[in-house]
Amino acid sequence: MSNTIVLGMQWGDEGKGKIVDLLTSAFDVVVRFQGGNNAGHTVKFGDRHFALHLIPSGILRPETPCLLGNGMVIDPESLFEEMEGLAAMDIDVGERLRVSDRAHVLLPLHRAVDQAREEASGKAKIGTTSRGIGPCYESKAARFGVRMADLVSPRLEARLERLLQRYEPELRDLGWEEIPTLESLVTACRAWGERLQPHLADGVDQLHRWMEEGRDVLFEGAQGALLDLDHGTYPFVTSSSPTAGGACTGAGVAPRDIHGVLGVLKAYTSRVGMGPFVSELDNDTGEYLRARGNEFGTTTGRPRRCGWLDLVAARYARRLDGVDAIALTKLDVLDTLEEIPVCVAYRVDGRTLDTFPADIESLEDAEPVLETLPGWQADTVGTLTFDQLPKRAQEYVNYVEQRVGTPVGIVSTGPRREETIVRREVLRRGLHLENLGPILAGVAGG
Ligand code: IMP
Repeated sequence: MSNTIVLGMQWGDEGKGKIVDLLTSAFDVVVRFQGGNNAGHTVKFGDRHFALHLIPSGILRPETPCLLGNGMVIDPESLFEEMEGLAAMDIDVGERLRVSDRAHVLLPLHRAVDQAREEASGKAKIGTTSRGIGPCYESKAARFGVRMADLVSPRLEARLERLLQRYEPELRDLGWEEIPTLESLVTACRAWGERLQPHLADGVDQLHRWMEEGRDVLFEGAQGALLDLDHGTYPFVTSSSPTAGGACTGAGVAPRDIHGVLGVLKAYTSRVGMGPFVSELDNDTGEYLRARGNEFGTTTGRPRRCGWLDLVAARYARRLDGVDAIALTKLDVLDTLEEIPVCVAYRVDGRTLDTFPADIESLEDAEPVLETLPGWQADTVGTLTFDQLPKRAQEYVNYVEQRVGTPVGIVSTGPRREETIVRREVLRRGLHLENLGPILAGVAGG
């Protein structure tokens, strides 16, 4: 059996979607364990493109069940929209889509609170996705949240009343005009409960039954390590745990049942929203990376801030996640550059740091210490094997491996499936993946 977690090693948008799509074929079940519809990636089915925010793209494979785990916050309206989008393409979600009855329900109230707070925060705003993610996790932690199981419970109204009592005064203070009424919330929740009933499951029991049947599980992370509530650039973080431990709590699985962790690392760095970003390029080169890498959010369409690869952050993520193998993505975006600087340490108050500091002011003041590698100035898109990459591109990959301390098992050189180099030995050893056949079908291997 081989259960694998796929995680982002930066601030999200590392290209996890493509890597997960590629790996899904070798797994029997896909589970999401944190976040909500703040995530998103575009999937292609036939000649149509559409964005999925909550449902794993594994649902596109006719036999693959997908579970939305207890660690998620789920906006039912957004979930129905995705289900309708899939139905319009004749993709039968049926009971393959399981929703943990312990997952929290993200209500319009949470969205209103998120937006009202951001609007009122001026310069101190986080730059959230405005989807209500933070307030929903806040309700969960403060123990007045509403869970999926409550949607079909006789105590629903009492739970909603308690929630509304907490947020109504704040929304009024913030001048929010359209505060949902208790009646509207109850009516909406009852209708959602009825519609979701066939999908609701005891997620822990379901997951463990799959594992006991010997099915291989892919745990799909959203966002990235530097957005982790505990370990990221707090307070400029999301409110969940997109690190490996989050998979255990967010799905209800023990560490010993995880056999490998694949960390997805972009060959440079991007971040959306506010917060420190030491290797950021606030200049034409940053603009160039944004345009060439098409760095605009799938969920919000916002332009992403871009910068050089930050190895201090990548090493930190490697430790947090116990990364066994790296998928290095978007290498081709660097193809034209004459030189490629990489951030190897931070200079803060005359000191050189090679670890990631907690203190937000230190991070804001930090200057990147850069090492410059020569560019390869050749087209890498669709290269078939590692050996066929330009020598300097190979050196860049080797340098990343060595400086992060983890082998690179996948190199992505374009958005399409076939634009991927799979190093089978690294995946076999690192992730204990014996069944590489389906992954290798249609991609290069070297
Ligand atoms: P929230 O998750 O909407 O609360 O947003 C908190 C921070 O996380 C903001 O900086 C967002 O831009 C960022 N964020 C949330 N989801 C993603 C993602 O999928 N990719 C990149 N950034 C994200």
